[in-house]
Amino acid sequence: MISTHGSASAKIILFGEHAVVYGQPAIAIPIQDVRAFAAVSIDASVTKPIIEAKDLQIEATLGQAPYPEAVIPIIKVIELIDQNIVKLPKSGWRLTVWSKIPIGRGLGSSAAISIAIIRALTKSMMKFLSPKELIKYSFELEKIHHGTPSGIDNTVISLEKPILFRKDHEPAPIQPASMFFVVGDTGVSKKTSEVVAQVAEARAQNPEQYDHIFAQIGTIARQGSLALKEGDAKRVGKLMNENQLLLQRLDVSSPELDNLIDAARVKGAFGAKLCGAGKGGCMVAVAKDGTTANIIASELLKAGAARSFTTRLK
Ligand code: PMV
Repeated sequence: MISTHGSASAKIILFGEHAVVYGQPAIAIPIQDVRAFAAVSIDASVTKPIIEAKDLQIEATLGQAPYPEAVIPIIKVIELIDQNIVKLPKSGWRLTVWSKIPIGRGLGSSAAISIAIIRALTKSMMKFLSPKELIKYSFELEKIHHGTPSGIDNTVISLEKPILFRKDHEPAPIQPASMFFVVGDTGVSKKTSEVVAQVAEARAQNPEQYDHIFAQIGTIARQGSLALKEGDAKRVGKLMNENQLLLQRLDVSSPELDNLIDAARVKGAFGAKLCGAGKGGCMVAVAKDGTTANIIASELLKAGAARSFTTRLK
């Protein structure tokens, strides 16, 4: 084992959340400069591996359950690696995990933390996973966290490329032209599994109506993939607005999201929508250029966003 580190990006869903759970295509992009990190340090004085959740200043010793709540997701990753990928030494190392990705805001925090840990620990054992293997193992962990995830988060974060994703299909990388996006965080945390369950219950009452909405969202995602490739930000914006209307019909938006979406549009966004599970979390807007994106980002803060940032798709 050697000392090393790994990291993984955040992500946003540009089109197709929720419908993707029911087999429709969706588009996700990585946010390269907002990341989760994991570091493995070799320390001969450590008799049992030490796990540290640095942001929360919580430490635990591997093998000494019960674990503090905050380190359980980290322990699950370690167990999965040890049981399926490579046997880890029983002593002499420490794993430190920290993240710049806010939790529960639709930015892929749980998948990014899992993937950063898998990258760090496998590298420290000189074991190198293919993208396919990374997607497979991180999906196992997403299932533990979210119940019935589509797999879009762990796939886009494993590949760190914009993708057109469809459940049970090979992800199709998209080569987008340059485009400017703004993300605004409502500051409201929401569990993805709860919102997905809410949609599932509503669909069970009214399957035809819901499946029709999902199909419309799928069509928007396909059209969105073309508009991204062509660099047609205006069209991307129009499609995002249409997608948002359908997400409202699924009842996954919220007053806080609608407020930030309106604020972005008023300041010149070509379009805006919630991103991720909804009922809180983040929204995303597309802008004509970097200057407009910056103006929208500061407007979102004035409108009450907990944070906002711009990201450029190259
Ligand atoms: O993890 P989030 O909040 O970005 O949401 C994932 C998107 C959903 O379509 C709502 C769920 C899924 O598994 O695809």
